[in-house]
Amino acid sequence: MEEKEAAKRIQQLREEIRKHDRLYYEEAAPIISDREYDRLYKELVDLETQFPDLITPHSPTQRVGGKPLKAFEQVSHVIPMLSLDNTYSEEEVKNFHARIRRLLPNEKIPVVIEPKVDGVAVSLIYENGRLRQAATRGDGNVGDNITQNIRTIRSVPERLRDAAPKLLEVRGEVYMDRKGFEKLNDERKRQGLPLFANPRNVAAGSLKQLDPAIVAKRPLGVVFYGTGATEGLNVDVHSEIFPLLKKLGLPATERWWVAESVEEILDAIHELDGIRHNFVYQTDGAVVKVNSFAQRERLGFTAKSPRWAIAYKYAAERVETRLRDIVIQVGRTGILTPVAVLEPVLVSGSTVARATLHNEDEIKRKDIRVGDTVVIEKAGEVIPAVVTVVKSKRPRDAKPFDFARHIHGKCPICGDPIRRDPQFVAWRCENLQCPAQTTRRVEFFAARSALDIESVGGIVADKLVESGLIREPLDLFELKTEQLAKLNLGTDEAPRVFGEKNATKAIKAIERARTLSLSRWLFALAIPDVGKTTATQLAQFHDNIDDVAHSQLLLDVLEYHQKRDQKESAREIAERLIKAGFAERSKSKAEKDGIVTEVGPVVAQSVLDFFASTTGKKILRRLNELEIQPTSEKISAKKAAELPLAGKTFVLTGTLPSMTRKEARKKIEALGGHVSSSVSKKTHYVLAGTEPGSKFDKAKQLGVKIIDEAEFRKILPR
Ligand code: IVH
Repeated sequence: MEEKEAAKRIQQLREEIRKHDRLYYEEAAPIISDREYDRLYKELVDLETQFPDLITPHSPTQRVGGKPLKAFEQVSHVIPMLSLDNTYSEEEVKNFHARIRRLLPNEKIPVVIEPKVDGVAVSLIYENGRLRQAATRGDGNVGDNITQNIRTIRSVPERLRDAAPKLLEVRGEVYMDRKGFEKLNDERKRQGLPLFANPRNVAAGSLKQLDPAIVAKRPLGVVFYGTGATEGLNVDVHSEIFPLLKKLGLPATERWWVAESVEEILDAIHELDGIRHNFVYQTDGAVVKVNSFAQRERLGFTAKSPRWAIAYKYAAERVETRLRDIVIQVGRTGILTPVAVLEPVLVSGSTVARATLHNEDEIKRKDIRVGDTVVIEKAGEVIPAVVTVVKSKRPRDAKPFDFARHIHGKCPICGDPIRRDPQFVAWRCENLQCPAQTTRRVEFFAARSALDIESVGGIVADKLVESGLIREPLDLFELKTEQLAKLNLGTDEAPRVFGEKNATKAIKAIERARTLSLSRWLFALAIPDVGKTTATQLAQFHDNIDDVAHSQLLLDVLEYHQKRDQKESAREIAERLIKAGFAERSKSKAEKDGIVTEVGPVVAQSVLDFFASTTGKKILRRLNELEIQPTSEKISAKKAAELPLAGKTFVLTGTLPSMTRKEARKKIEALGGHVSSSVSKKTHYVLAGTEPGSKFDKAKQLGVKIIDEAEFRKILPR
């Protein structure tokens, strides 16, 4: 073919492809099959390959073009991209309405109700009808320039149709439709890759790709709901924007309502709720916006959001599905949790295939049986749960679930005997070496709120334990980059290695974990009953892990509860705990002279038991060997080293003449010293007031220097 002839055919093909794109994406009325479309597309690609000089940046084939970027350029938004106030109650919608009426008295204030799209916010700028730039929201003022990525979305026109304004910034949300999401996950499953949690995450992740070729493979769409900076646009009410966007060839929100009274607004919100699941994109609410731009201007903004709009979020979505099976999962503390295996369904934007059933009693109470049709609920990031059983749909042969018989008194993973833990209405596997427990502990250990070891998530933890590379969380500190790089996260048939880059990153994060605070470490060790609050509390009153393991304070808590009937001894311990700041006097009349501690006897016992167990002792030993010594956050170690009392340990006892013990503690800590709860050979000073307790005797016995307040003041710098 001659170049001239080719140019003509190329022109034809481009026009034709654009027409079919429009019919397909904008009008949802394709007139040719996908196959025919692909044929046209391929013909164009072939011709352009033969005559590369004829390629123009606006050819439909160039949507996928562009080289991978090193980093995204940062671009400023001329008009900031703000967020909206969210509300979950109709009451607040009424309040919103009352507020705008109060601010604009005696005026008609028509509002628009439209879907709140659950995607990723983007801003596109068209100049003289040509797409010039696309950006993410970023922090609202500055975002990433993602023009290359947006160009790969077929429903985004490169050129606007009709008379386009000189400047048009459109704002909207990029999404992945349900079908595309399910297809993508099916494919990943086949390849043994981890599944995406929900369409929104994939859309967000896709836009963050530096290589547009990857983005081009993801079936993304976009829907616009408003404008930003504009020039030459003669519109003064929001409701006119939608038909205008459509006319220009931009996909826009498909349904909206104009209303004036509160009743009309709520009716629209309800109506939208009834139809929103039919949209191809996910929605999680309704946005109510004042229609007139002039009125919007007069209403203005608060620090964060406009006064002229509010977002109403719909309640958690509920759907029905079939319960295929009930399996038992072993958690990090050995608790056996029944989990519902479901026929996968999409709820609130993610595919749910499992839901927690909490415990045996819950299954009994709700009479949940395998084969049942169940209603499940999921809100945002919350773990999906089974709400009820649809009894009318129960198969005739469905039998009540017998938990005990199901597990035969054995841990389903390691086969060790299990014990019923009355406190948790749960069965517990007490084998701390149980692989299921180990895996969950490793995962927990590395989680963001624990030691924040990025890239050691569920699958990696599974594979690390399964491959025998680690047997307990602390083994992570002995991993080598090369070992980790070779770890197979896939299957034997479809292997997928962790890789050098990820491994280096993970090792770095592991090294960083060494220096994290005592509270994070206490939390990360997955001590039964120790949550974040307890870990923080313990860290505030102890210097290091050894100190917690042999804590006099915890022993006191236990002793206090054992000796509660023996008034005298109990009172003495109570006073000690109060003085240490570890307990407060109970305000309840029934419990005269009683105390309350944040860390109660059950937790205290659990902590001491843990460190006294073989596993606990081993942990202490290994921490020592690995030279990991998390210190209390009472002071940051670095700063403390330069302070006058750095490295000095104090123990306080008795009543001081002119300051409370809390004040003394604060003074010592502010100057870099430690206050410990118990006297040992390592104690530098025991600061004693009148009526000192047993610590005074212990100090004498050990030959620790005892000082009074006057001497203490002399130590303090002037
Ligand atoms: S209007 C000044 N309309 O929700 C705020 N936002 O929390 C203008 N969103 O950042 C936003 N659907 O990313 C608006 N129909 C809609 C929306 C919508 C989704 C997102 C958007 C915004 C966030 C607000």
